[in-house]
Amino acid sequence: MIGQLEDLLGQLDELLTRASSELETITTSAALEAWDTHYLGRNRGELKNISSVMPKLSKDERPVVGQKINAVKTELEQRLTAKRGAMQQRELLQAMERERIDVTLPGRTLPAGRMHPLSQVIKEVTDIFVNMGFQVVQGPEVETDYYNFQALNIPVDHPARDMQDTLWVSPGEILLRTQTSPVQIRVMEQMRPPVRVVAPGKVYRNEAIDATHEAMFHQIEGLLIDEYCTMADLKGCLERFARQMFGPGRRVRFRGSYFPFTEPSAEVDIDCPFCNSKGCRVCKFTGWVELLGSGMVDPRVLRQVGYDPAKYRGFAFGMGVERIALVKYDINEIRLFTANDLRFLRQF
Ligand code: DAH
Repeated sequence: MIGQLEDLLGQLDELLTRASSELETITTSAALEAWDTHYLGRNRGELKNISSVMPKLSKDERPVVGQKINAVKTELEQRLTAKRGAMQQRELLQAMERERIDVTLPGRTLPAGRMHPLSQVIKEVTDIFVNMGFQVVQGPEVETDYYNFQALNIPVDHPARDMQDTLWVSPGEILLRTQTSPVQIRVMEQMRPPVRVVAPGKVYRNEAIDATHEAMFHQIEGLLIDEYCTMADLKGCLERFARQMFGPGRRVRFRGSYFPFTEPSAEVDIDCPFCNSKGCRVCKFTGWVELLGSGMVDPRVLRQVGYDPAKYRGFAFGMGVERIALVKYDINEIRLFTANDLRFLRQF
């Protein structure tokens, strides 16, 4: 049986050589797995087939062949492991090459939007009042004559009602609000004191348009009603606002004025933030810039909404947002706010 033994050993050597050189040529992992099954497969692998003759061998031959089979098996398994490793390494390198990025390239910046300057001013102003305990509310832009005028102590024949300034939807009845003051009435109708609200929004006037006048602009209305409230509270509140908005050192001036819905009424000025009162274009060489209108709420207005003027009193104020923005940023043309020119808007 010597011949058969040598034949077997020869077959195993041949198998080792053939499987090894075939392994060298493999480039895909599918082919690698097929190779594994073909040579080392537990069921019908070539090596397994050769092993199946073992029982027919003599006692002396068996260990010789067994050792040889094991040696071939170990050798092929090592080569397979090495090949797998090499292929994975190559695939990794290929993937890295494919996905290579140049981290030194400059980034592509996305164009970032931002808040319109008027929205920024509205936010700044309302934030200051929110921090003083005020609540932000809104009212309709299309109003009735009652809320925009009558309830605010501006009767039909009142000189404060300049018919030419009002944009009517339905003459004498429905209009585009000319001020945010009607929100005061709507709030008081809905709430019992204490009331502390600010109401930003659009207002409309039938104006001749120029560098400081537009047919649509924004106002912020303020209203505080409580059992105890004096002109000193009004002054303290608005001084605090003016200094937070325009700088801690600002001087604030209260000038007696007239509004139908407040008594007494005052206009509030600050010393010009641009020239420190020396006189410049912004303050029209007066040293002062007008900020807002204000006053103690007229008892007739309180009575109108069912508040008892003997029990409650309060103050109100109203400011033009565009005006404040023009002063704050030293802009000389109100129409820039609605022109949508990015060269302008990008500056804020
Ligand atoms: N509504 C006034 C206007 O449009 C501004 C104003 C003045 C509002 C005095 C007020 C106020 O609340 O008390 O000119």
